[in-house]
Amino acid sequence: MRLRPGKGRAGPSWSMLVGTLGGFGMITLKVNGKARQFDGDPDMPLLWYLRDVAGLTGSKFGCGMGLCGACTVHQDGVAIRSCVTPVRAVVGKEITTIEGLGEHPLQHAWAEFNVAQCGYCQVGQIMQAASLLKKTPKPTDKDIDAAMMGNICRCGTYQRIRAAIKSAAKEGA
Ligand code: FES
Ligand code: FES
Repeated sequence: MRLRPGKGRAGPSWSMLVGTLGGFGMITLKVNGKARQFDGDPDMPLLWYLRDVAGLTGSKFGCGMGLCGACTVHQDGVAIRSCVTPVRAVVGKEITTIEGLGEHPLQHAWAEFNVAQCGYCQVGQIMQAASLLKKTPKPTDKDIDAAMMGNICRCGTYQRIRAAIKSAAKEGA
């Protein structure tokens, strides 16, 4: 049985089974600039923590195996897959979710180019793109393709994603 995070999703949540029962010792996580205490299982996937414990439901569950990018967040500004990252691995790191990204040129570009279709993958796409632009402010098509290839969109919005990234780069994201 695969566990799924988040309210309204099928199956039991991680916290229902092992969650915040205590006995694991307190750890401090830094999420969106705020320190948060957590005494649950440090092996809990970060995505489960973000959605079920912290209530930050922007990051999505797709594959749960690090293969689709729907759960992408930043660790110290670099994109990571939160579904395969245990909470213990991010102690002392700065975690940023879409809720903490702030107003970003990518979001304006996403709106301008009508990128989203169903929208499910798009938070992960934006977080991945934001990580790319932080490292490479003026990416080539090759840079964009290399950075975004692990973020899957079942609606096939790839061309609009690329155009939006280029536009945001021009804006000086
Ligand atoms: S849900 Fe994390 S990569 Fe697919
Ligand atoms: S917009 Fe539907 S999966 Fe990407």
